[in-house]
Amino acid sequence: MEFQTEEEKQLYYIDKCREIIKQKENKLGRKLTACVVTFGCQMNFKDSEKLVGTLTEMGYEETDDEHADLVLYNTCTVRENANYKIYGRLGYLSKIKEQNPDMIVGLCGCMMQEKHVVEKLNKSYRFIDLIFGTHNLYNFAGLLYERLTEDHKVEEILDGTTKIVEDLPTKRKYSFKSGVNIMYGCNNFCSYCIVPYVRGRERSRKPEDIIQEIKKLVSEGVVEIMLLGQNVNSYGKTLDEPINFAELLRRVAQIDGLKRIRFMTSHPKDLSDELIETMHSSEKICKQFHLPLQSGSDRILKEMNRHYTKDDYLGLVEKLRGSVPDIGLSTDIIVGFPGETEEDFEETLDVIKKCRFDSVFTFIYSKRTGTPAAEMPDQVEESVIKDRFDRLLKVVNEISNEKINEKLGETVEVLIEEKNERLKDYISGRLSNNTVVHVPGDEILIGTLQNVKLIEAKGFYYMGEIVN
Ligand code: 5AD
Ligand code: SF4
Repeated sequence: MEFQTEEEKQLYYIDKCREIIKQKENKLGRKLTACVVTFGCQMNFKDSEKLVGTLTEMGYEETDDEHADLVLYNTCTVRENANYKIYGRLGYLSKIKEQNPDMIVGLCGCMMQEKHVVEKLNKSYRFIDLIFGTHNLYNFAGLLYERLTEDHKVEEILDGTTKIVEDLPTKRKYSFKSGVNIMYGCNNFCSYCIVPYVRGRERSRKPEDIIQEIKKLVSEGVVEIMLLGQNVNSYGKTLDEPINFAELLRRVAQIDGLKRIRFMTSHPKDLSDELIETMHSSEKICKQFHLPLQSGSDRILKEMNRHYTKDDYLGLVEKLRGSVPDIGLSTDIIVGFPGETEEDFEETLDVIKKCRFDSVFTFIYSKRTGTPAAEMPDQVEESVIKDRFDRLLKVVNEISNEKINEKLGETVEVLIEEKNERLKDYISGRLSNNTVVHVPGDEILIGTLQNVKLIEAKGFYYMGEIVN
């Protein structure tokens, strides 16, 4: 078969799979079920919406229960723990498959881009039916068709790609908000990070394509979008007609009907004054900024290949706060990078105290095979890391607690996002700065913006009430 586009090819395979699934349904006298489990970041969640969309188009019924006819794990490998988690879950899954030998088990995502992982899976987890990586996720329908028609395991991992295939069926988790990929991959090669090896080189989508996708989402009822990329601040650099991230944001903000714009993730080395100015002057861009620091020590930042200093970082935060005073700031910190001394760690604590982040994601350094940091001498002892991690958490929590209390009593705009599962007759939403608030209310309000008075702060979230 000859196809004009990759999208066309996938639609062809979706149709072919639908026929097979229909036959199976008739034989079993029930619908077939599929369970996609996602690990890792927002990019993976976005990818999973495409996987679920494809499966739904084929006729599978989506389920959260792993006792399904097809189970697909979309994996993460950013830290070693993520990998252990998958191996553990696979043990559990093998028991389920023993009871239902026709079940199809698939694995995809970042972890599959590591050779040693796939070798281990092939050797010790032989019940897996389908393996594919990050560069050919768009070929899922074709690969599943092969598995359904030929009685052997299907494995396809590509080393890289320059392709961007976007227009595939998607089943969004939320009707009113959505992630939108603006770029793929990463060129930064921070010395601890495996992402550039598993997600490949940086590729930006054309602004017209991004705008078109968002307009379509808005026409379907989406009011909030999250622009996604490993380093959104370098968006557009590799396009034939270069455009920067601030310009893209301005164009997106002009879309009628779109109410809120967020983005993830920024790298401090590429954060421009123009972006800060754009945030200052746009009502639609949420007052939220995630700016990973990783370490406050200049020496460690250099070893990490981050291309900024502690002072550069402090300067950026000052500019951001100067321009957008009530911005919600969050960051990532790695504790125990090779060679980190007590003095280095204290520099990190110092930045935390100076920046007073609203939230901090704290990670223990994880050695990733193939990255430069894995070969560095002086890997820090576990007990030292544990002690530093605990001290860091204490400071972080104290500050977050103080910060969250600062807004008490204010009335703020909140996007209502879901029914509260634990409190009866409560619904939950997010402030512009991304903090969660729970309010009494009916789920009919999900997807709407409401004015909410913040009544009580409880650690990381608020209790409030709607004051329309
Ligand atoms: N060890 C620990 N944390 C890591 N991160 C990335 N790689 C590692 C690693 N090898 C963290 C960084 C990054 C976040 C997504 O994960 O802080 O910003
Ligand atoms: Fe995990 Fe990073 Fe891959 Fe996201 S991009 S799934 S965080 S390894």
